[in-house]
Amino acid sequence: MADTGTLHDAFIDELRDTYDAERQLTKALPKLAKAATSPQLREAFETHLEETQGQIERLEQVFETLDEKVRGKHCDGIAGIIEEGKSIMEEDFDEATMDACLIAAGQRAEHYEMAAYGTLVAWARAMGHNGAADLLQKTLDEEKAADEKLSALAEGGINQGAANAVSSEDDEEEPAAVGAGARNAAASKAKSGSRR
Ligand SMILES: [Fe+2]
Repeated sequence: MADTGTLHDAFIDELRDTYDAERQLTKALPKLAKAATSPQLREAFETHLEETQGQIERLEQVFETLDEKVRGKHCDGIAGIIEEGKSIMEEDFDEATMDACLIAAGQRAEHYEMAAYGTLVAWARAMGHNGAADLLQKTLDEEKAADEKLSALAEGGINQGAANAVSSEDDEEEPAAVGAGARNAAASKAKSGSRR
């Protein structure tokens, strides 16, 4: 009879998957940074690249504490998320919209990682691997902070800049004041229309 896998086996498997995911991200993050127009966004991606390198070392430590060989196993999930990010970068968006889309792509990756590390921490604790759990928790905290930073950048101006870029393109043919007036007229027309 074949051996039945244990939670420990699943845990090691998840660790290898996550190790590979982090390594894929060290190649993807510089591309996101390069595509960003906002200096703060570029810096956020660059900072997270440095953190990611530390997270890789932390995972190596986790393997060591468990007396396991340091090894990755191709992570299809993050590969798909990175692929989607690449497609976005090939789109012809204005700079602000591209920044908003880069944040969206980055946050997909962060949430994927948060899910992975959340599971790893919980499993490590359940099996009494407290040293490993503490290391993994540090990374989980970093991923959450990176995600929050991206939200703050999006909500702190990048999304609005992207939304405004759309309307300024609509008004391209006419002076801004006339454009705004026309919008107001259209808005009040719509309002009076809805009253009927
Ligand atoms: Fe990470």
